[in-house]
Amino acid sequence: MRGKVAPTCRNLTTSRRIATATLDAPGLASDVPPPSISHRKDAIKHAKPFSAFLTDSFDRQHDYLRISITERCNLRCLYCMPEEGVPLSPPAHLLTTPEIFYLASLFVSQGVTKIRLTGGEPTVRHDIVPLMQSIGTLRPKGLHELALTTNGISLHRKLDSMVEAGLTGVNLSLDTLDPFQFQIMTRRNGFDAVMRSIDRILEMKTLGADIKLKVNCVVMRGMNEREIIPFVEMGRDKDIEVRFIEYMPFGGNKWTQGKMISFQEMLDIIRSKYPELRSVRGHRNDTSKTYEVPGFVGKVGFITSMTNDFCGTCNRLRITGDGNLKVCLHGNAEVSLRDLLRKDNNGDPIDQAAFERIKQIEMDRREGRLSDETILGWGQREQELLQVIGAAVKRKAEKHADMGDLEKLENRPMILIGG
Ligand code: GTP
Ligand code: 5AD
Ligand code: SF4
Repeated sequence: MRGKVAPTCRNLTTSRRIATATLDAPGLASDVPPPSISHRKDAIKHAKPFSAFLTDSFDRQHDYLRISITERCNLRCLYCMPEEGVPLSPPAHLLTTPEIFYLASLFVSQGVTKIRLTGGEPTVRHDIVPLMQSIGTLRPKGLHELALTTNGISLHRKLDSMVEAGLTGVNLSLDTLDPFQFQIMTRRNGFDAVMRSIDRILEMKTLGADIKLKVNCVVMRGMNEREIIPFVEMGRDKDIEVRFIEYMPFGGNKWTQGKMISFQEMLDIIRSKYPELRSVRGHRNDTSKTYEVPGFVGKVGFITSMTNDFCGTCNRLRITGDGNLKVCLHGNAEVSLRDLLRKDNNGDPIDQAAFERIKQIEMDRREGRLSDETILGWGQREQELLQVIGAAVKRKAEKHADMGDLEKLENRPMILIGG
């Protein structure tokens, strides 16, 4: 399946990845039995070395890519952006759908197994479903998870076709279960629409869809700490993981330490009612620490960026809506992948027609043989992009700055990063 040129582009490292996931359609419950021991041995034997371009100086392997597909949002959450909004990039600066798909395929060719679409609010991008369908075609090339972080306002309308396209997980932002408080925290209406999205996901799960649902709740002092217990209680009979997030500073969000409620304080609040709350084992690369109340169906998680960083196991890279690679959420180093990619198109956005033209030129140059690693094949362009990506990944810091310094760091507003 891989083209002739591509394997030489993977730099050899000693670490090996072991593919154990099944390749059945994501989003649909599977009755495929777990892989046998001989299958697993086979997977180990044929495992490819993880790309050196995506491995940083601390040996962290970045197999999770977050792509922001729009800078726009239909809410105005207090912690995410200033009331007046943020200046948006001119449309020509934003990645086109074929450009996003091209970059997704390049990263998957290097070992990325999980892609999360973020924003702004990703569902406001009008062609999100076709975009997901095209990214979904990367499954046979190693993509195992295609996830979405959304505020849920218009999700219920697109959910079924997204699941068909291969959606495997939804992280839904909801900071309150009180419709009036929702209006205060988001500066907009829409609570009922969000609840409709949650109900539809739960309904689809009961019908057999295999979608992981997590609720993200940013906890702010004086705003929603009284909601912690009701959110925990949502898990009594609902298969949801509610993750409480420590409020983090980003450009223009008026963060102060006083407004942040720490992990420890959240634990204390929950244990005052549920002293039996206990920690459960999570996945190595989780941003959250997972807990459960015995007897509850759902789980509870804590994202503790401010008081307990989890940089040591970081496996994430980000592409912003305007095509910059950002190697750390809390770092302001960025490199443009867009500019490098558009060199072949005089710096202009590459739409589908332009992709076809460039592809034809490649085909002519290679006498009709094109590797299928990316839609443009494999050659100097891909090498150059990987060099730039690899250099940026190598510059990634071991961990992000401490709270005091983060507050002063000039970073994008969250809406322009996507979490
Ligand atoms: P999973 O794929 O479910 O692990 O999702 P996630 O936690 O990576 O993503 P999500 O978009 O749901 O983000 C939840 C919270 O985690 C947000 O507040 C993000 O800002 C934060 N977050 C995501 N990635 C990172 C990261 O690399 N570092 C830090 N410090 N926080 C992160
Ligand atoms: N601090 C913590 N989490 C934040 N999010 C947005 N802004 C902040 C912030 N300042 C969360 C949103 C969303 C995720 C992508 O990031 O709630 O779920
Ligand atoms: Fe990784 Fe940076 Fe997030 Fe730390 S803050 S976990 S290094 S992206």
